[in-house]
Amino acid sequence: MSRLTESPAWNTLQNDVARIRATSLRALFAADPDRYPRMTVSAGPLFLDYSKNLLDHETLSHLLALAEQEQLPQAIRHLFNGATVNRSEGRAALHTALRQGDDAPPLWLHGQDVSLSIHQVLAQMTEFVEQVHSGTWQGYSGHSITDVVNIGIGGSDLGPAAVMAALPADWVSLRVHYVSNVDGAQLSRTLKPLNPETTLFIVASKTFTTQETLLNAHSARTWFMERAKDPAHIARHFVALSTNATAVAQFGIDTRNMFAFWDWVGGRYSLWSAIGLSIALGIGMDKFRSLLAGAHAMDSHFRDAPLAENMPVLMGLIGIWYLNFMGAQTQAILPYDQGLERLVAHIQQVSMESTGKSVTQEGKPVDYATGAIIWGGAGTNGQHAYYQLLHQGTFLIPADFILPLHSRYPLGDHHRILSANVLAQGEALMRGKTAEEVKEELAGQNLPPEQIQTLLPHKIFPGNRPCNTLLLNQVDPYTLGALVALYEHRTFVQGTLWGIDTFDQWGVELGKQLARTIDAELKDHPSAVHDPSTTGLIERVRSAMSPSSSF
Ligand code: F6P
Repeated sequence: MSRLTESPAWNTLQNDVARIRATSLRALFAADPDRYPRMTVSAGPLFLDYSKNLLDHETLSHLLALAEQEQLPQAIRHLFNGATVNRSEGRAALHTALRQGDDAPPLWLHGQDVSLSIHQVLAQMTEFVEQVHSGTWQGYSGHSITDVVNIGIGGSDLGPAAVMAALPADWVSLRVHYVSNVDGAQLSRTLKPLNPETTLFIVASKTFTTQETLLNAHSARTWFMERAKDPAHIARHFVALSTNATAVAQFGIDTRNMFAFWDWVGGRYSLWSAIGLSIALGIGMDKFRSLLAGAHAMDSHFRDAPLAENMPVLMGLIGIWYLNFMGAQTQAILPYDQGLERLVAHIQQVSMESTGKSVTQEGKPVDYATGAIIWGGAGTNGQHAYYQLLHQGTFLIPADFILPLHSRYPLGDHHRILSANVLAQGEALMRGKTAEEVKEELAGQNLPPEQIQTLLPHKIFPGNRPCNTLLLNQVDPYTLGALVALYEHRTFVQGTLWGIDTFDQWGVELGKQLARTIDAELKDHPSAVHDPSTTGLIERVRSAMSPSSSF
């Protein structure tokens, strides 16, 4: 047993489980006519209904007690003040400072005013975006830029790509493409229709050492040079977003064309920094600032609202309740907005790379679950695919439904029907359908009793399956900023209560290390020691690569 699992607040919650298992969402709603108004909260442009969750007011107060016990309010203050919350890497995590706006007071970190550095880079971005949009920044043949290719992976790709996918295409003044995968297919297919004279490459990498990004950037440069011929033209077509000026210069990008950020910006929390340049180029600096302002609105709410009315806190605690006490392992994110589909992958990285840890900040093994498996996709598509398992499967899968109240693409009855579907899914998961209700329905269809008996078990919906419903007025940069920041802070709440380092990611290193060894073997045939399976597979891949292979 650890300090956390032996603690009074944890024990109280464990005792709550039996009471909650013995009741049902139907019963909880019947017992409390005010359950819906009492279990809704607004934050900035977002509204959350969390009343369809498997908990009562007592459980909620016990979760809040757990948050107090684990000193969440202090942790939030530390996060915002620039304390070294990422202890294993000895760093602050100051993504909130990136979105404070122009009137932000100085924020000192290791003798440097972080706010000042942020504004300098924002000014540099503003000038660059203006030059590209006005046509003052021209390609090597004197034409304006028409296409931007962001080359990056993980946090240097997912956040910006998610934001751009969410926003209406007619807001976008340049075509913005994202290349992340080391699978050459993605770069080849992206480059095929592009004109090198009017294409700008953004090489986005915090470390500027990431294998996939550097290989894609080298291949993009080769493609460019085969057409532009003169290396002097690179300066008009390649810019870098990074913390590593030396590596940027080594790659051959003039550091005057580099937009800096800092080690206190975590990769998956970096879309608000220079990493957002592709967004700014796509939608303009004013809208990029609006994205920052939306995130700032959520930051202010998270920092200032009491825990019991704090949206990221409530969502984080509810997630902990399911994972640590009710036996859930996964969490579905289900936006009812096609443009928000890519947001699921971004939230997945934010959450799973942050909380997929099994030791505490002090390096002690945990004896409780951490890091839910995040997955999902756009509704209504999922309804015709995996929702079967949500409704009648054997796992408890809490879902977050996300619905914009107004569509960016109003078209006949589409948005009303989309809205009806998401509301219906929440109700169906919660209410289910009892044996009596099924019998009555089937009897109404005049089916013979034996057929009713055969069909009955298949048509029962156990119900009692929880969800949050998040409403937003409309997808715009401000709302998106708030939405992304909500999930960032929800993740921080969970990481804090679990006592883990939310901002490191050592778990990605081993695969990278082994890939380098195996790549050397695939290239040069030296033999390293592997297990028989890996050795056998290396052999087959290597034979397939040999020119005489018929594999
Ligand atoms: O390998 C994981 C990771 O380090 C992520 O944390 C990060 O977002 C991604 O790779 C890209 O890293 P970089 O921006 O340094 O290329």
